[in-house]
Amino acid sequence: MNHLLRIIFPAFFLVFFSCQNEKLNSSKSTEIEKKVNELLSKMTIEEKVGQMTQLNIDVISKGELYKLEEPHQLDSQKLNKAIVDYKVGSILNCGSHTYSREHWHDIINQIQNLAKNKTRLGIPVLYGIDAIHGVNYTEGGTLFPQQLAQAATWNPGLVEKIASVTAYEVRASGIPWNFSPVLDLGRQPLWSRFFETYGEDVYLAKSMTSAAIKGYQGTDVSDQNKVAACMKHFLGYSFSLSGKDRTPAWIPERELREYFLPTFKTAIDAGAKTVMINSGEINGVPVHANHDILTTLLRDELHFKGVAVTDWEDIIKLYKIHRVASSLKEAVKIAIMAGIDMSMVPNDYEFSDLLLQLVKEKQVSEERINEAVARILTLKFELGLFEKSITNIKDYPDFGSKKFSDLSYEAASESITLLKNENNCLPLSKDKRVLVCGPSANSLNILNGAWTHTWQGVNTNYNTKNKSTILKAITNKIGTSRVDYVEGSSIFEEKNVEQAIKVAQKCDYIIACLGENPCTEKPGDIEDLTLPAAQLNLIKALAKTRKPIIIVLAENRPRIINDIVDKVQGILLAYLPGDEGGKAITDILYGDINPSGKLPFTYPRYTGSLVPYDHKYSEKLDIHFGENAFNPQFPFGYGLSYSSFEYSNLEVSHDTLKMNDTLTVRVTVKNNSKIRGKEVVELFMSDLYASITPSVKKLVAFNKVLINEGSSTIVSFKITKSDLTFIDSKNQSIVEEGDFEISVANLKQKFTINN
Ligand code: BGC
Repeated sequence: MNHLLRIIFPAFFLVFFSCQNEKLNSSKSTEIEKKVNELLSKMTIEEKVGQMTQLNIDVISKGELYKLEEPHQLDSQKLNKAIVDYKVGSILNCGSHTYSREHWHDIINQIQNLAKNKTRLGIPVLYGIDAIHGVNYTEGGTLFPQQLAQAATWNPGLVEKIASVTAYEVRASGIPWNFSPVLDLGRQPLWSRFFETYGEDVYLAKSMTSAAIKGYQGTDVSDQNKVAACMKHFLGYSFSLSGKDRTPAWIPERELREYFLPTFKTAIDAGAKTVMINSGEINGVPVHANHDILTTLLRDELHFKGVAVTDWEDIIKLYKIHRVASSLKEAVKIAIMAGIDMSMVPNDYEFSDLLLQLVKEKQVSEERINEAVARILTLKFELGLFEKSITNIKDYPDFGSKKFSDLSYEAASESITLLKNENNCLPLSKDKRVLVCGPSANSLNILNGAWTHTWQGVNTNYNTKNKSTILKAITNKIGTSRVDYVEGSSIFEEKNVEQAIKVAQKCDYIIACLGENPCTEKPGDIEDLTLPAAQLNLIKALAKTRKPIIIVLAENRPRIINDIVDKVQGILLAYLPGDEGGKAITDILYGDINPSGKLPFTYPRYTGSLVPYDHKYSEKLDIHFGENAFNPQFPFGYGLSYSSFEYSNLEVSHDTLKMNDTLTVRVTVKNNSKIRGKEVVELFMSDLYASITPSVKKLVAFNKVLINEGSSTIVSFKITKSDLTFIDSKNQSIVEEGDFEISVANLKQKFTINN
């Protein structure tokens, strides 16, 4: 084949098959629409309301709410009430802890069999779960780094693979719906769910969003290896004023659109099937009651066609917590009329009873109910549940396989971020003696964080067997005789510090593993962002030994460490790296992996300065009117390598260009070291003058490249109009003519848009 044909042929087939795919998809959706309408026309109001009801598994299990009998079992009477009497359409959650795959199949088979054989229309039940860093509620499944760590890889390809494996293992557990990914932007470091986000930057988070949706859903969710994704929590959940979970956010529409909406828009464009709503309030209106957000924005403007589910008890909260409804009945009416399709009730039948009354009294129109139920049924058809309501265990031979844990290890290795390496103290040599200490040294739970086998992730009984803590991995690598372990400090309390000092004196290095207990949501609220004093005191005490100290941080959010940064020689931020974290951290400490993670957020230096990298010019001004006020501990996008990279020749294709032209940017990156390494090339754009105060810079492109020792590579980017937009005072996305500056590392180039 000649050269041209080689290019044309594959391109032709690609276009041909994607057109065929589109045709198939559209004929499939017409077929589904027909089936949905047919089914809907046969349904009673009770059956419709049932479809809109989602219950917690506790409600159908033996034992009491939140105190289930062990071993877990479904209660046939309660199950009958839910499925047969109330015709419930969806069940969620894992009860009190992780289950085996066999148990998942047993539970879901019982539910589906009852729905199929004992209800008039035999509509399958939609089971949903939070598998947010791998299939975290199934024993023996693969646990990946949490989302923030995934973002720190700056490698969307890896994020897609992680989502794809998660989808496989979730389906292998008999479950077709995953409440993931979290698309809230991490711009409030105090927030307990910071680790669940893709960090503070819109562009990076958008890149990870498309990858995750593609990995979860593929091109067809009826594929038995794919699941329906659930983008959450729409909209503005992550940015409460106080930093406490589910407390008020004040976010003007312009800022909502500039910072918090783009990830959701990206997910919708990528075909996300479902959305979960923000439990909190924005500008005084709980989002579950906000028609403008749930209908005008989500449906009319963004054209989202999928299912909108509430978060946990959020209709009840409209009455009991937010107090915008004076009764539960009014709350149900408000939420459903605002645009909710399914209520995660999840612990009783009041929602179903009240919604039924409201429809009968014509306070809620049947049209609104039909719209919601049609979306739910469409999803069930799309997932293939009518043909096969549950998968077969035997079809998933790769569940929990080595190739999956290798992927988790790769992701952890690419995420862990080296923040300080004074005098190249790292990597450590394997024949030296080390003191390992600190609260995260010997805990698999801290490496995994919340949503691991249990909601808060603190129970050690269910941990995956044979996974290494940091201590175990270090011992495996350099041998017991070279490792001393003294706890030194728990999360909050100093423990045998004197002994730690004594042992440190006999050692060559100190590896102090610090961090935070696993926690999320309300239980994760904190009063102070500073790392607990006991841990800081341990480091200050150990520093007196003058032995080199390397700290490893396993934490949910950037805890302030300013007091100890100068006392240590090395800092490794591990985020929450998952089951393979211990091994990956150790391999980085000892140089078997060259670190390549970069911060997906700004690491603050002071509790009173929680300012993101894309701040305004006024936020740079200090008391002397100099420009030093923005002074984080470590900047967004920062991360060291054992290689050293040098940037040169930043070129732009045009000095002046028209709005619709494409600008090509090229830069040379040289690996000036004797070690092969990966570097994230980050391209920032500054709109120098604009009608809305411009950010000092914004990330608009990046590329992670592997560069051999001594080699250089040219990285090029295409910049178009969409990279220059901002939201104006009329809440429209626009580009203004004028001067722009591009920066890559320490290089800068200007260009002008002139129409
Ligand atoms: C969380 C959601 C989660 C849901 C179901 C809520 O408390 O906010 O993120 O999906 O529980 O477990």
